Amino acid sequence: MCGIIGIITSEKRNLIPEIISSLKNLEYRGYDSTGIAIIDNGNIKRVRRIGAPSDVFHNQEITEAFEVPSDGFSIGIGHNRWATHGKPSEENAHPHFDCGGNLAIVHNGTILNYESLRKELISLGHTFLSTTDTEVIPHLIEQSRKEGASLKDAFLNTASLLHGSFGIALISTDDPNRLLLAKHGSPLLFGILDNTLIAASSSNAILSYTNTFIALADGEYADLSIKEGSVTYIIGTILDPEKLLTKEVMTITDKSLGDMTKGEYESFMKKEIHEQPSVFRTTILGRYDEETGDAVLGGLIDYEEILRNAKQVLTVACGTAHNASLVGGVLIETLAGIPVRSEIASEFRYKKVPMIPTETVLFAVSQSGETADTLESVKEARRKGYKTFGIINVVGSAIAETVDAGVYARAGFEIGVASTKAFTAQLAVFYLLAIKLARERGMTPQKGKGLLTELEEIPNLMTKTLVDTESIVRELAEHYANKNICTINFLGRGIHVPLSTEAALKFKELTYLEAGSYPLGELKHGPIAVIDNDALSVIIMPYDELFELNKNSLEQILSKSGNVILITDEIGAKKLGAQSVDIVVIPTLKNTLLYPTLEILPLQLFAYYYALALGNNVDKPRNLAKSVTVE
Ligand code: AGP
Repeated sequence: MCGIIGIITSEKRNLIPEIISSLKNLEYRGYDSTGIAIIDNGNIKRVRRIGAPSDVFHNQEITEAFEVPSDGFSIGIGHNRWATHGKPSEENAHPHFDCGGNLAIVHNGTILNYESLRKELISLGHTFLSTTDTEVIPHLIEQSRKEGASLKDAFLNTASLLHGSFGIALISTDDPNRLLLAKHGSPLLFGILDNTLIAASSSNAILSYTNTFIALADGEYADLSIKEGSVTYIIGTILDPEKLLTKEVMTITDKSLGDMTKGEYESFMKKEIHEQPSVFRTTILGRYDEETGDAVLGGLIDYEEILRNAKQVLTVACGTAHNASLVGGVLIETLAGIPVRSEIASEFRYKKVPMIPTETVLFAVSQSGETADTLESVKEARRKGYKTFGIINVVGSAIAETVDAGVYARAGFEIGVASTKAFTAQLAVFYLLAIKLARERGMTPQKGKGLLTELEEIPNLMTKTLVDTESIVRELAEHYANKNICTINFLGRGIHVPLSTEAALKFKELTYLEAGSYPLGELKHGPIAVIDNDALSVIIMPYDELFELNKNSLEQILSKSGNVILITDEIGAKKLGAQSVDIVVIPTLKNTLLYPTLEILPLQLFAYYYALALGNNVDKPRNLAKSVTVE
């Protein structure tokens, strides 16, 4: 939530295009408003707009707003906002100034004690121009300066007064050769080039400039400056600034992670849906042994005994990651026979979960690795004595760094705000994990081998599913979007229930329409009351042991004149014969536990095309942010 950019360079140039292109790469973090500030000839110049950088920062206008001096700029900051305190408006957009307009800051996070700080600052004569929590920061620094502190001390004093979470970047006319950064709870790193340092909320914003980074940890600051014609930095802790730290310089080498373009696709979401076969392949690659029929999860290697002895599994996650965990739960319970409890992280944090930490292994699942509820759940679980593992997509993210160990979901950058390929990658990890836990609990090598062979086939079958279903799903989505359906429910049984939940989430996020999801058998216990000619039921029912039961439920819906789309496999389609319902056919699988990998594809496409038919922005649905770093 919110994206920060800061550039300092000893090679003066027009920094505005670099700031804008980095902000565009961070749009997934927030896109309701945006702003840039640079120091120009001893003054701070600022432009703020409502909307996303790619929609509002057009070349002509920006060139006019920032007239580039002949010797260029050496320092600037930028921000994309996802409003938490104060509605999206130019006044609330970052960068924010102090009263004197001598310093500008951008902030990602939430300041919990801003109301009391604001009151105090107002009583000291400060004037606030926004309704944000952030604006207390520049005024606190200004106040500390007035009381005699140096710029750096004022910055660090201020950071130490803030409760909540922050990633902050500061520039000031008092020292135009200095970019100050501080982090607590919100991600912040800086990239290193020969004559330039670039701060950002995420490495993907600046990978086109550098793949060498230093990531700040909670409670750390960085002082980036231009000295004697070159850039330099020091890093320390906010509460003990004199104690300097030597930090590891990280290099991102995986080129696929750097692909942040839409390529041939018209949207990131469509690209990411179509990347799923290769994501699945990459996620399982090198993580199993065909000879032994076992999964080989290097990240968990030091915890083999704990996994072997675990009596139960607990998952914590939010949104799509929770839905993937629910599928994972069915896999682990079915294959390994261990009870699994899947908790929504925002609930887990505040409730009593009567599980025994020493007998339980906890898996935190998250695409971003930043989700506040999941991160706090992990911290809480660790305090209680659980061993915590991660299934995380973003390497080096906060959750990945907090858990004891884990397995990365190798989905690459997911830019579309509605998660698609991360879900598939999480499923891939859960299949491997379930096989691993099962092999330790009596699954024969033969059975393990069989499952792994089928798992290897999944990427090809995913491609086939996309090819076979996309046009029919598109037609159906457009048909129902134009029909103005009043009610839509996604239904299934067993392992298909979490798929219906994920389908409904995707549908809500993209179409802005309410959608329900139920176990099919529950229909008759209430939800059937909504079925009529204006209701649509999407039923996930490939041919399996519950097929006949599912047919019963289908009849019940049809008898109430409901509209139906069935997602079934080739055998299921044959068995159904001529039906007055639309059928989307996916390939038949030997092992029915693997169906989620294929079913999800037409369900994602359905939400995607329905939203497009309504004229919605599929990459940046309204009100959402890619990483939910607030509670
Ligand atoms: C998915 O489409 C959502 N945008 C959202 O539910 C997301 O899955 C959730 O916020 C969890 O995010 P994480 O995986 O980054 O932790």
